[in-house]
This record gives sequence, C-alpha cells and structure tokens, in this order.
Amino acid sequence: MTGKAHTLLLFGATGDLSRRMLLPSLCALHAEKLVPEDLRIVGTARSEMTDAEFRNFARDALEKFLPAERRGGMADFLNRLSYQQLDVTDPKGFAQLAEKAGPGDDLAIFLSTAPSLFKPTIEGLASAGLAGEGARISLEKPLGSDLASSAAINDAVAIAFPEDRIFRIDHYLGKETVQNLLALRFANIMFEPLWRSQYIDHVQITVAETVGLESRVDFYDDAGALRDMVQNHMLQLVAMVAMEPPGSFSANAVRDEKVKVLRALRPVSAEEIVTGQYRGGASTGKIVPGYDEELGRDSDTETFVALKAHVDNWRWRGVPFYLRTGKRLQKRVTEIIVQFRSVPHSIFPGARMKANRLVIGIQPEENISLSLMAKVPGIDQQGMVLRSVPLDIAMPDAFSGKFKRIAYERLLLDLIEGDQTLFVRRDEVEAQWQWIDAIRETFSKDAITPKTYAAGSWGPSAAIALAERDGVSWHE
Ligand code: BG6
Repeated sequence: MTGKAHTLLLFGATGDLSRRMLLPSLCALHAEKLVPEDLRIVGTARSEMTDAEFRNFARDALEKFLPAERRGGMADFLNRLSYQQLDVTDPKGFAQLAEKAGPGDDLAIFLSTAPSLFKPTIEGLASAGLAGEGARISLEKPLGSDLASSAAINDAVAIAFPEDRIFRIDHYLGKETVQNLLALRFANIMFEPLWRSQYIDHVQITVAETVGLESRVDFYDDAGALRDMVQNHMLQLVAMVAMEPPGSFSANAVRDEKVKVLRALRPVSAEEIVTGQYRGGASTGKIVPGYDEELGRDSDTETFVALKAHVDNWRWRGVPFYLRTGKRLQKRVTEIIVQFRSVPHSIFPGARMKANRLVIGIQPEENISLSLMAKVPGIDQQGMVLRSVPLDIAMPDAFSGKFKRIAYERLLLDLIEGDQTLFVRRDEVEAQWQWIDAIRETFSKDAITPKTYAAGSWGPSAAIALAERDGVSWHE
C-alpha cells in the first residue's frame, strides 16, 4: 500500500449515504485540516450535473447534516469538489472519469452504490487505468446476501485490487466507543485476567433501534434484521469482545484475532434463536404502523432477532453470548454487558450479593459502568449490609470539549491514509456469512417464522424467555 491519497472518487455521490454521512464527514475533516491540502474529491453518479450543481447539492447536505460549528472553511471545501456523470454499466464513460481524476496514483475510491454495480465499476476502473498500485477501494455494505454472493463480489473486486488495497466498511468500527472497547480491554491490566469463562458468566449485546422501515422498503424486506445487523455490526462487536490480545494495533494483527473468533462461532440451534416482526404500537411517543402496514403487504421478514451464540474455544467455553437487535424497540440503545460470576464463597452471611457487571454503552450514551459491591454506611449489628454500586465513567464528562464524530470521519480518513485496521478483511466477511447462512438454513428447515411484537416494546416475549430459561435477564 502506498501513501496518502490525493484524489477521492466518490461513486453514488448523490445518494443518501453521501448526503448524510460522507460529504459531512469530509467537510468536517477538512475543517480540522486532517485531509491532505491538495485532496480533490470527484463525485460521480448517473444523474447529469455540473460541478457547480454538485457543489450546491453538497452545500445543502452540509447545512442539513453537519453542525454549523463544524463547517469551518466550507467554501474552500466545496472548491475541492467536482462532478462527472457516469453510467457505470457503460465502459466508455470511465475514460472521461479518468481524465477528471487525473493519474491513477494516490487514488482513494469509495463505492456507495448498489452491489450489483460493483463488478462493472471495477472493470471500468481497471480499463481506464484507475486501479493502479496507488489506488485503494472502499466498499459499502451490503456485501452480498449470503456467502456465495459475497464471494462473488469479493472475486470481482480481487480481479483489479489486491486485498491490501480493499477497504470493506462496517461503520460500527468507525464509532469511537467501539474502538474504545479495544482500549478498555488492551490498555488496562485489570480486565484481561478476568476476561474468560472462569470469571465471566455471560455476555449480552443489544443493538436496539426505535426507527421502522424508513425509506428502504425493498432493501430491508429482502435483508431482514439477521443480515442487516447481526451479520456485520453485531458480529464485529462479538469479535472485539472475544478476541485474543493482538500482538500490535496493526491491520493484520487485529484482524487475524477477530477472524479466529468468527470461525469459532458454534452453529445456532432452532431453540437458541427467536425472530420477530413489529406490529403497530406507540414508539417514542407516537402511534406508528406495523411492518406489514408500512410495507403494504404481508411478509416473513424479521425486524427483530434474539439469539444465543457460543464461541467454541478455550477462553469462552460455556459462556453464552446473548445478542438481540430490532427495529421499533422501546429505546435506541447499543450496549455490551459483561456479566461476571459471583464470588465463590461469601463471608457476609445474609448479605444480598450481586455479581459484578460491566456495562459498555456504545450509543446514544457513551459510558462505562462497573458495578461493585460496597458496604452501606452504618453500624450493622446484624452483619454487614452490602449493596451493589456503580463505578461510572461518562465519556463526555471524562473528555469534555470533545464532540461526537460521525463514524465515517475516521473511516474516510483511514481510507485516504491507507490504514486498514478498522476495515473488514475478506476472511472475516466470509466467516460471518458462513455462520449466518447456517442460521438461515435452520429457519427454513425448522420453519421458523417471526413472532409479532408491539412497536415500542422489547420484542416478542419469546426473546425474554430465551434468556430467562438460563436464569438471565436482558439488561434494560
Ligand atoms: C445500518 C443498517 O447498517 O445500520 C440500518 O442497514 C441501521 O438498518 C443502521 O439502522 C444502524 O446504524 P447506527 O449507526 O444508527 O447504529
């Protein structure tokens, strides 16, 4: 991999991701002088637009999606932008794009288009000399809908780009709090000796959303929660919780450890998974329609999944990982709970002992809380009275003056700088799909269909039962 990119080619430049996330992230990086001074950004999409029109489009997006205090030097940022209309299925257009982009060295390419367009785009790039040594390419999800289609995408990209120049996005890895998980685990001595089945009873990961279908009707109905959220974001969180300490914080050292976890995931049985689909209800104070009403027809697509996973290796033997995610749940929260085991023997007769619990809040609250047993002040004639009290670190307080970044800021900067640590390697994506495909086979073999749940709830009651059968309650 060569050095920094000086040209960024943005495919799908007029799309939703570009408007909401990519252009605002790039402008924010520009405002902080984090990108190379001479970086040029060439947007491309199917619609006809002049450079000036694209800049106007970008200005509207920035005014809508980037806070005013982060838009410093916006006029200069807009001057970095130009536009080239392109139908990627027509190879001839790529020559013009190459002219606009300049020489193919030091080039970063970001594909935020439908995966069906990846192959012709890669072929077009290669034929126009835009896939040379200094060119790197970033791919947005969905990277396939199963192992076979994902492998087909990976093969198509590999024709023109070697793995060390492919940057697969999982935007959860760009979140500061997700990276903090690595800091927490590997920059502190105290957790590592306890981070194993001997001391950990179970792990819970919740990614709950309050939104419904939004405008992505067809995509979502084809995907469902398992493929939309578990296959990528949740499995990356599992990998980061469960991985062995890497030898260094370098791209391959980190990814080597993550992939071992993904490969050690045990197939999930029919009893270990519950799916759901929301019906109408009250969500965040509003009455909202059910999934089938939003869709306008009946569907078997799950908008909720809860499952019990196991990582079959020495460290995690017998430690269940309870995962759940869903749309239209009671509140928006992403958190990881590490539930430690109880002390082996209590010397405090009569005291109600509670095992330690570490709660890592990823969003919207960014906090880390460790529950500890402490003595309740007072003279206890009947024996010491104890209570579980939280040791809380609210990240915004600990690091005041720091603002919340868009996950894509980190990822775009790393793409420009050529650092792959926070991008997903081919073997990881494929291990993820392999595990998900097996679950989907179980769905069809055991005729598992989604149970209904009311919008604004925590999902179907069967999901609660799934954990409670093991004496575990979901953290709420
Ligand atoms: C996307 C999914 O990958 O992640 C969406 O396709 C989901 O369905 C989104 O809403 C959640 O991301 P975040 O950053 O809001 O948690």
